Amino acid sequence: MCGIVGYVGYRPVQEILLAGLEKLEYRGYDSAGLSMLLDDGTIESVRAVGNLSRLRAAVVHSNGGDESDGAVATATRTVTSGIGHTRWATHGRVTESNAHPHYDTSDKIHVVVNGIVENYLVLKRRLSDMGAVFTSETDAEVIAHLISHHMALGSLVGAVRAAYAELEGHYSFVAISADEPDTLVGARKECPLIIGRGDGEQFLASAIPAFLAHTRDVQYIENEEIVVVRPDSVEFLEPDGTPIEREHTHVDWDESTAEKGGYETFMLKEINEQADAVAETIADRTIRPDGVDLGEAELDESLLDDVERVLILAAGTSFHAGLIGRYAIEEWARVPVDMDVASEWRYRNPIVSERELVIGITQSGETADTLAAMRLARERGAKVLACTNVVGSQATRDSDGVLYTRAGLEVSVAATKTIVCQVAAMYLLALRMAEKRGTLAPERIAELVAEIKQLPTRITELIEGLNGSLMAAAKRHATSDFYLYLGRHVGRAVALEGALKLKEIAYIATDAYAGGEMKHGPIALLDEKTPVVCVATDMPILDKMISNIQEVRARGAHVIAIATEGDDRLEAVAEEVIYVPRTDWMLQPLLAVIPLQLFAYYVARERGLNVDQPRNLAKTVTVE
Ligand code: F6R
Repeated sequence: MCGIVGYVGYRPVQEILLAGLEKLEYRGYDSAGLSMLLDDGTIESVRAVGNLSRLRAAVVHSNGGDESDGAVATATRTVTSGIGHTRWATHGRVTESNAHPHYDTSDKIHVVVNGIVENYLVLKRRLSDMGAVFTSETDAEVIAHLISHHMALGSLVGAVRAAYAELEGHYSFVAISADEPDTLVGARKECPLIIGRGDGEQFLASAIPAFLAHTRDVQYIENEEIVVVRPDSVEFLEPDGTPIEREHTHVDWDESTAEKGGYETFMLKEINEQADAVAETIADRTIRPDGVDLGEAELDESLLDDVERVLILAAGTSFHAGLIGRYAIEEWARVPVDMDVASEWRYRNPIVSERELVIGITQSGETADTLAAMRLARERGAKVLACTNVVGSQATRDSDGVLYTRAGLEVSVAATKTIVCQVAAMYLLALRMAEKRGTLAPERIAELVAEIKQLPTRITELIEGLNGSLMAAAKRHATSDFYLYLGRHVGRAVALEGALKLKEIAYIATDAYAGGEMKHGPIALLDEKTPVVCVATDMPILDKMISNIQEVRARGAHVIAIATEGDDRLEAVAEEVIYVPRTDWMLQPLLAVIPLQLFAYYVARERGLNVDQPRNLAKTVTVE
């Protein structure tokens, strides 16, 4: 996810912005930029692709090589207000012109934006027709032009309110105007934005670490609020302009806690970011109530035409996301799907055809086996689609099209927010294929789109309701040295993923099986000490899964069931039942995986382990 920093006050802004952005580096980024308000009525803007040292070099260059006082050399006084941004590309490639800040045609309004503007295409068309000249491929730029269009209202805050009323999506932004020095106007719709209060100076950022070196006096901007920030004041407004009182909070976090957003670990922070990550992944792709749109700069939807067979290749957690995708593609689009772990498939002297679509799922876009398998599939004539979280990663270059997840950087080694985004992306792909092939009735597609759009809300509800029951279950079983995970049908991938999580972060031996296979061997492992995690959320063969749970109980083992809200049958067969909100059965795995992430987390914490740095594992991170 991107980072925002803003400052108004009396000190040289340039160094405050650069240092603030450095504190947000942990969030991941591929380009960065600053805009500063000069007192000659212009805005100086510098952007650079790559890490912040490149932005620093570009700033020094634009200052005429003088870095001495941290001020902008072209200004007639020390420049004391501005905005900065680190971008993690979602719409548009990693280029300087796609980096923020974005600006309007007259270069008087500059904005930094996090999140997604869902209706940007409609707005872009309208503003272009009115003469706006767009200079980037991003959705974010539309905000600068829209505010500029509304500046006829007479003030930056008036223009931001009018723009906000027209914007759909999931975003936060900060705007400055060359005509109103010493004023920042911010708006929040879902994505975070926070005020840091100073004396004669104020800070605004997407996360507290950006200003923690200067102040610990914080005011939280709530969802759907606008703020007007000046050196001596911060006004909070409803979108209709009604003023709001906002209390101050003193933050006593140290820097490392602040980086984790107040959570004790990155893994917990990232588990809690899953609603936002899924919201971004589905945002503009589900605008149409009657279908899904995937056609983007790097995905020509014709890639999905005439596909006779799909083959999914991946590793680890990404393979489990693919397994859920397999059910969705077969069920909705009625296309046969095979899959394999990339590290095996590539050595099978595999057979692929030109009518085959190979989907390589890799959050990092850099996993060697997955890349090699994708390349081999392409050499042998298949069309290859990459599903990745990293713009510009190798997978994007080794494929014919890219379907991006938009989870932001995942710092924790254990994949959490990336799997839910991969699963969401698989649902979108399956639904688009179904729409193109006419395999689902239009009403059913509309119903599924509506359900997919509800997923972020359901994730929030789920996570808010989970902690107590999961912590208790984790405490009870933390000393067990073996766990069995069972699931069937769409629940099997969830069981596999839950077992992987417990293995990799709590170092506990686990096995994961299809429920129907248990009696063919693994049942011998069960005794009254064995915790058995059973994924029993709504699905077509839930009755069979419940019979398998009864077989487990008959051996005296301890059943922890993951079930769908409203299904009380599990209470009779399980010692502990963890409920996930009801959705369409095909979407249940995306929710069911979350309690298993948290369960593994709490077990690991009970054992005193460092979940962010599990032994023998490292994350593939490609961000500079
Ligand atoms: C598990 C985990 C790994 C990765 C696997 C593939 O938590 O992180 O199993 O899923 O190494 O990585 P990507 O998706 O980057 O190809």
